[in-house]
Amino acid sequence: MAGNKDAGGKKNVKAGKADMAGKSGTAGLTDVQTLRRRARENVGQGAITPSYTADRDTVVRLLNEALATEWVCVLRYYRHYFSASGMFADAVKAEFLEHAQQELEHANLISERIVQLGGEPDLDPDTLTARAHAEYKPGKDLRDMVRENLIAERIAIDSYREMIDYIGDRDTTTKRMLEHVLAQEEEHADDMKDLLDGWIGK
Ligand SMILES: [Fe+2]
Ligand SMILES: [Fe+2]
Repeated sequence: MAGNKDAGGKKNVKAGKADMAGKSGTAGLTDVQTLRRRARENVGQGAITPSYTADRDTVVRLLNEALATEWVCVLRYYRHYFSASGMFADAVKAEFLEHAQQELEHANLISERIVQLGGEPDLDPDTLTARAHAEYKPGKDLRDMVRENLIAERIAIDSYREMIDYIGDRDTTTKRMLEHVLAQEEEHADDMKDLLDGWIGK
């Protein structure tokens, strides 16, 4: 059907009436009348429209697990930042602080997405460590702190990768956000590995 591929185009006003299924002849895209009608239904669902095909409850549950993990990482990195002492403490502290701040950004991105999906971010501190994948380990000395952070990053990397595989292309916004977070977790792991590799007497 001519002029039917742009949902916002003025030429599309008459489009779609010949197709009962709401699909135009242009690459199987939905015609403008159907798009407009569907958008008016369930307006209260906000960004969630009929073309969202992921299992929303599952995605929200997975995101809440990731949220708990991020907060445990925020708390662990801050604990290490304030407690770090010793010969190499200055360089290591700077990394801990930067990571703590980036984990907080991850947590906030995830909370925002949970709300967009109609869910509730679970920030209950009573159950936080039980729900998180990574652990809160204070570490007995500076090197042990770095090692614990590397382990936590490796846990996060694996769980984000699995989440991305599960979501696939059914929720590309969540997938894109998780890919961004995963890339930073990989950088964090690399930073911790570099610190461990440079340790004297390891
Ligand atoms: Fe993170
Ligand atoms: Fe991280």
